Amino acid sequence: MTEEKLRALLDSMSLEEKVGQMVQVTGAFLEEDAVITGPAADAGLELSDCRLAGSILGIAGADRLKRIQERYMEEHPHHIPLLMMADVIHGYRTVFPIPLALGASFQPELVEKAMGMAAEEAASAGLHVTFSPMTDLVRDPRWGRVLESFGESPWLDSRMAEAYVRGYQGADGDLSRPGRMSACDKHFVGYGAPVAGREYNHAELSEHTVREFHLPPKIAAIKAGTACVMPAFQSLNGEPCTASEKIVRKLLRDELGFEGVTISDWSAVGELVAQGAAADTREAAKLAIEAGIDIDMMSVCYARELKGLVESGEVEERLVDEAVWRILTLKNRLGLFEDPFHGSGTEAEKKTVLCQEHRDFARKMVAESVILLKNEDSVLPLSREKKTAFIGPYVDSTDTCGSWAIFQNREDTVTLRRGVAEGGYGENALFCHGCDVLENTRVLGFGVEEVFGQREDRDELVKQALKAAEEADAVVMALGEHTLQSGEAASRGDITLPAQQMELLRQVSRVNSNVITVVYSGRPLDLREVSACSKAVLAVFLPGTMGGAGIADVLFGAASPGGRVSMSFPWSAAQIPVYHNDYSTGRPYDPAGAEQKFVSRYLDMPNSPLYPFGYGLTYGSFRYSSVTLSAETMKAGEVLTAAVTVTNEGTAAAKETVQLYLHDEKATTVRPRRELKGVKCLYLQPGESGEAVFRITEEMLKIWDRDMNFLAEPGTFTVYIGSDSRTENGAGFRYEG
Ligand code: NOJ
Repeated sequence: MTEEKLRALLDSMSLEEKVGQMVQVTGAFLEEDAVITGPAADAGLELSDCRLAGSILGIAGADRLKRIQERYMEEHPHHIPLLMMADVIHGYRTVFPIPLALGASFQPELVEKAMGMAAEEAASAGLHVTFSPMTDLVRDPRWGRVLESFGESPWLDSRMAEAYVRGYQGADGDLSRPGRMSACDKHFVGYGAPVAGREYNHAELSEHTVREFHLPPKIAAIKAGTACVMPAFQSLNGEPCTASEKIVRKLLRDELGFEGVTISDWSAVGELVAQGAAADTREAAKLAIEAGIDIDMMSVCYARELKGLVESGEVEERLVDEAVWRILTLKNRLGLFEDPFHGSGTEAEKKTVLCQEHRDFARKMVAESVILLKNEDSVLPLSREKKTAFIGPYVDSTDTCGSWAIFQNREDTVTLRRGVAEGGYGENALFCHGCDVLENTRVLGFGVEEVFGQREDRDELVKQALKAAEEADAVVMALGEHTLQSGEAASRGDITLPAQQMELLRQVSRVNSNVITVVYSGRPLDLREVSACSKAVLAVFLPGTMGGAGIADVLFGAASPGGRVSMSFPWSAAQIPVYHNDYSTGRPYDPAGAEQKFVSRYLDMPNSPLYPFGYGLTYGSFRYSSVTLSAETMKAGEVLTAAVTVTNEGTAAAKETVQLYLHDEKATTVRPRRELKGVKCLYLQPGESGEAVFRITEEMLKIWDRDMNFLAEPGTFTVYIGSDSRTENGAGFRYEG
């Protein structure tokens, strides 16, 4: 539709219709036989509030959404199509590894391709907008939603943010093409830093920290063209984001230039009352629209209050018009006025959903994202000629996609046992359950509750496992936390493995010295004891539909493990937050030096995490040359190149993830000890060498100075290039401005 026609449409809409566009409810409330129950009913939502809602969320399926769309459009006074939204976070039916694992791939181009596939599947099933990517930088693994983040580096998170947006929206951003979806960058801003890692808690971050660490991935998503942004649930420095003109209208819109649609988080507008920011739903609606929230997701505030607020003159109608214009513009960009189904349909679904190409790529992404944390005596890769016992609750588990894979079908998931068998690795493999994932506990999910008791055959299972371990040459322990122990509303204070799994590991390690532990988790766990009991440790996070297949490929050496730590694995939860880009102190501690007192350290544990950012082993063995720089000085506007030669001195072909870090030696504000600024992947055969060449631009040197200017300060910089954030392989240059 032309802009002129769209404008005419807006002008012809009643106030009630316009407010409707700003309301979002769950899809089920617009189905023929809808009844409102549960928390929405408790919050007072009625079917009449939903009648004119401009968008729905949470359901999918081409036929189902088509029926809703047809009925809705027929009844709508201007026959305006609905927007169909849902959380498609790391895949629709073909579920890719969780975003934290995708971040660990350090390969945005692969992630872009994966999200293109996710969009194709979801769009074929009738969805138009996904609430993704979550670009919240994270430092606290107690927070359950770290699984949805890409990690602790602003640079890496930014590259992943762009990859996600381009994957969903296409490199040209033409949303009208079938198979494309609108992205929704979330959560603006600071949601990744809830105090004490407790879900929904407020965030306290200085402006400097927000700008230096938390905003860059958001800016990257905006620059990549994300069509929507979701302001965060929580308060930042005392202001609920949903009600903050400073955060939404001034920072997001005026300063960062975001022109798309903003959508509140689930019931966040209504929650302003519980937060103590609004006296009632009326004030909450007023605060939210004034802050700049276009769509109210699942609260009664806009549906009930906005019309009255405008009629009484308390809210200017102009604010409603601006919001509705943005919503209609998005519908138009998606081409919904021409095709309200956006190319979806059962035929398209059949062609794309879980197709071989997507499944093969998901399998590759598993290998690219699992992190080999330890591999003593090169116990991995396994030999298929030797006897291997696979033990543990994750051997046969199909619950490996994580709590955000809301459209997954567990039957599609390839278990580890199946991956081993179907990969042709299983001639000498035997499998035992060992123990359940949890014992004597209860976990809650979205409308699900799982209760774990103590099994009667518990001792028998352990006995079988120990017998298998005794007889085998090597043991693969498939252990992990439960999928409902990570994700939204799943903060944990203790981030070790569940007790009975740990006990089984201890016992197995006493009878077999070749233990390889495969750890399934939604977060970096405290793996200290796991590591002590194992010769090898492979972190696989929640690997998705093709998990078992990709993990088997890595265990048996058909693929080299490709992942690197994108969020530090703490030595102990007591160190949290522990991350690579912390600031230099005036009293640095040198662990290699003599015993020191008045320095920045713990008396009872190391400062460093167990596995630091960037770290990850492969089946190759890489030697780095020293860093060569194209010049020793750099003037404003110039570009330097930094290069290393890397040689694979091992016996297997592998990918090396070459990382470039910068350190600003002296500045007006204290600087991180290391900042990742570039990654190059080299695929090298045994004996082969390759060169990694990086460009260093002035932009990469910029910092927020003490007066909040973003600029490059003249002075000395060190460039480090190596295989993880601890590298000392560096060279210096002077930036002269
Ligand atoms: C709450 C989550 O915080 C948000 O990320 C998600 O998109 C919405 N629920 C909708 O499911």
